[in-house]
Amino acid sequence: MKISPSILSADFSNLKKDVKIVEKAGVDYLHIDIMDGHFVSNLTFGANVVQALRPHSNLIFDCHMMVDNPDKYVINFAHAGADIMGIHAEATPHLHAVLSLIKDAGMKAEVAINPGTPVSSIQEVLPLINQVLVMTVDPGFGGQEFLPQTLDKVKTLATYKERNGLNFDIEVDGGLNERTTKLALLAGANIVVAGSFIFKANDPIVQVKRLRDVANKLS
Ligand code: DX5
Ligand code: ZN
Repeated sequence: MKISPSILSADFSNLKKDVKIVEKAGVDYLHIDIMDGHFVSNLTFGANVVQALRPHSNLIFDCHMMVDNPDKYVINFAHAGADIMGIHAEATPHLHAVLSLIKDAGMKAEVAINPGTPVSSIQEVLPLINQVLVMTVDPGFGGQEFLPQTLDKVKTLATYKERNGLNFDIEVDGGLNERTTKLALLAGANIVVAGSFIFKANDPIVQVKRLRDVANKLS
């Protein structure tokens, strides 16, 4: 299991400090939620924040683009130091083209699906991509309740991947804690995004260890 803490719940007045804490805790990725106020109603930050954090961390920057017209941002995010760029299937009619742009720009390509979007809508691009992000809440805000019905899509993806000899990672995002992480791992996810579970607690390092323990107990 890889852990990708979402800085959406970190201290925006001192992001560097929080990034260093989770890096010390031994996480794998840093999940950076980009929201444009159109695709979702919330607004966060852009490539400039990715660029500002880049010299301070060796973590893999996992950028979750909750934006319309994601093609517009590919080059800026590549230059800013993003490693993985995840775009929403609902945000563009040109999914194959934008995922290809992301790969051509030297990043890993991910496609994300909202709770209301079926796996069948992304089936054609699965051979092209490195990761699928199954949203386990409706995107836009941290601290929401995990939607258990999304686990069926994780299972469907894990089975499809196995049957077709594909090797994309399956990431889950939204409402992840010890209980729901266990459910997601059992369904076949291998990357867990956690925002409030890690950053809203007293000790983020303890929280990361708690998630690791969930995976260790299953293996
Ligand atoms: C929600 C974001 C998530 C968010 C998860 O739209 O994509 O990454 O930070 O937050 P928690 O873990 O608090 O549900
Ligand atoms: Zn996210």
